[in-house]
Parts: sequence; C-alpha cells; structure tokens
Amino acid sequence: MLSPCTNVTRNLRMLPNGYAMLRARIIGTGSSLPNKILTNAELERMVDTNDEWITTRTGIKQRRIAAEGEFTSTFAVEASLRALEMAGISADELDLIILGTVTPDFPLPSTACIIQHEIGARKAAAFDISAACSGFVYGLSIADKYIRSGIAKKALVVGAEVLSRIVDWTDRNTCILFGDGAGAAVVDASDNDNGVLSTHIYSNGSFWETLYQVGSGSRNPATSKRTIDERLFYLKMEGNDVFKHAVRAMEEAACAALSANDMSPSDISLFIPHQANKRIIDATAKRLGLTEDKVFINLHNYGNTSAASIPIALDEANRAGRLSSGDIVLLDAFGGGFTYGSALMRW
Ligand code: UT7
Repeated sequence: MLSPCTNVTRNLRMLPNGYAMLRARIIGTGSSLPNKILTNAELERMVDTNDEWITTRTGIKQRRIAAEGEFTSTFAVEASLRALEMAGISADELDLIILGTVTPDFPLPSTACIIQHEIGARKAAAFDISAACSGFVYGLSIADKYIRSGIAKKALVVGAEVLSRIVDWTDRNTCILFGDGAGAAVVDASDNDNGVLSTHIYSNGSFWETLYQVGSGSRNPATSKRTIDERLFYLKMEGNDVFKHAVRAMEEAACAALSANDMSPSDISLFIPHQANKRIIDATAKRLGLTEDKVFINLHNYGNTSAASIPIALDEANRAGRLSSGDIVLLDAFGGGFTYGSALMRW
C-alpha cells in the first residue's frame, strides 16, 4: 500500500538534511496566557453568532483575552522565564532570541529586544520574525540553523500574540476565532540523535490578500485618515480560501518532514499542528492517516493564537507528560502570507 505521503512529496523542494552533527534540542518549554476568558456564550451577546455554530465549525469553546496594561511582551516574557526555569539555565547563557509575532508591542523596537532586556539575556542577539501562524516553526528553523552552523549554542524561540487588539469585534467571520497568549522553547546544541531532525519552511505570497492586516505600515500609515476611516488596522480573512489551502499545505509540509527522514506517519508519536480550526486539524490528520490519540488539540480552550499556538500546545503536551525521550514529534504550521512549514524532532 502507498504511504499517505507518496503523492504529495513528488514535487517538493527537498533541502539537504543532517549535514552536521549538531542539532537544536528543546530543553525547556513555557507558556503564558491572559487570565480573562471570553466564552462563546459571551460572544453571542457581542455579534450575531452562537455557541453551536462556533463549536461545530471551529471546535473553539473559549479564548483568552489580554487585559488593559497587558501586551505581547507581557506573555512572551512570562513564557520565556518558565521555559528557562524548566531548562535550568540562566538568561545570560542565551546567544539568540527569536520571536514570531504579528502583534508586536511596537513596530520599533522589536519585541524580542524587550524580552531580551526584561529577562536579562545580556549576550543574546534578538529579533522578531513576521511569519504569522508559522512564526514559531520559522523561528525554530532559524535557531536550528544557527546551532547546526556552530554560531549559537543556546537559543530562545518564542511565539506570542495579542490578536485581540487587531481583531474587529463587529466582524463575526473573524472575531470568534482568535485569542491571546505566548509559548516559548529553550533550545540547546545537541550532538546526539535527540533534537530537531529537520525543518521545512515555505511561502506563497500570491495569496496574501486572503488573510491580512494592512493598516499602519508604509502603504497605509497609522496616521493616515484612510487607515482610520476604512478600518484598515483590523485583521481580515477569506476563511474558506484559507481553509482549503491550509489543509493541503500542512499535509505537504508534514510529508516533506517525513520523507526527508525516511519516516512514515506511523513513526509519529505526537502531531502538534497549528491550532486554527479543529476541522483543519482533523482533515490534515486524516490525510496523514494519524489516529486521534496522536494529535494534540487545545484550541477549544484558547482559539487561534497564531504564532503562539504551537509553542503553547508543545508546552502543555510536555507538562502533561505526553512527550518521552525518543518520541518523534511533528510540528506543522500554516498562516497568513501564506507561510507554512514543519519541524520534525526526536524528543
Ligand atoms: O491561522 C491561520 C489560518 N486561519 C485559518 O486557518 C482559518 C481558516 N478558515 C476557517 O477556519 C473557516 O473558514 C471559518 C471558521 C473561518 C469559517 O467556516 P466555514 O465553514 O468556512 O464558514 P463560511 O465562511 O463558509 O460561512 C458559512 C456561513 C455563512 O452564512 P451563509 O452565507 O451560508 O448564509 C456565514 O455568513 O456561516 C456564516 N457565519 C457565521 N454564522 C454564525 C460566518 N461566521 C459566523 C459566525 N456565526 N461567527
């Protein structure tokens, strides 16, 4: 019988894999979420929607929302400190801090620099990356390359968002989907078989107009009347289009990871996909032939937290004892841009 990945990997770009002995290995995870919970019942009082629609179409039951005075860095810093504590290292051992976010504290400076300052990572380089919901997988891929090349030994990879500040709370197509929070992972150089086996990251900018927030950049300055009048600072999405591409792209990225490592879906111990919609996760898992017990899902509690979704899920799985040494863990992301990608790890 053909493996589920046989057809989709045929035309994929394959990157060289395992060319160096070193690889990044996650030695600590952490997450942080706002205390405020917004339930589907509360949303029913805000827009024309209902719990039944949200639950059956998305799987989401509630999401966390940042309070006034809480920012992306608030959660990013807390998640980072928790990851450092689990790793048992101090912040000044970090060489690199990479933050995936589309809701930074400010356009300038980077929120990674705020994290660097607040956790006291005195010798770390720090930068944000904009890869939407794929931000954590992109960040892990970059950290892995720095470690494989010997330039960095220890890195902090964070995904953090306060999406509630760019969500249009009058638009039922989007406001029911998103939530706030952060997740982080400390990675260390590993010279054995445990750690990141491969990462594959991709983009397809031809679909950028299906998921975007175009107010406040150089095309539509935050100060322009048009940005305000046309409500350009809100996130917009063509949900149906995004949905279809998400399933196909996540399958491709997962299969690229497995093929590069001569593995098949049956080798996966735990699949941790981006938490956007339970139907997307179920469809992807079905295409890969994965049973429910191998798929980690927490979006019923948090909604779609974009770049934070995978590291929050990874931390929950880790703290729940779902990850044992030697397990094969597959991270799989898809987001605006489009961006997508996978990271395959031996835990
Ligand atoms: O994180 C990165 C990527 N993001 C995603 O992956 C999200 C991908 N897309 C999705 O998850 C889904 O497309 C949505 C959950 C956004 C929408 O689900 P859908 O099954 O694609 O619904 P739809 O947009 O086709 O809308 C179906 C109907 C429409 O009514 P009509 O035209 O059939 O009368 C919508 O107006 O549902 C209506 N609708 C709602 N009804 C109640 C849309 N939003 C709502 C709502 N409550 N919140």
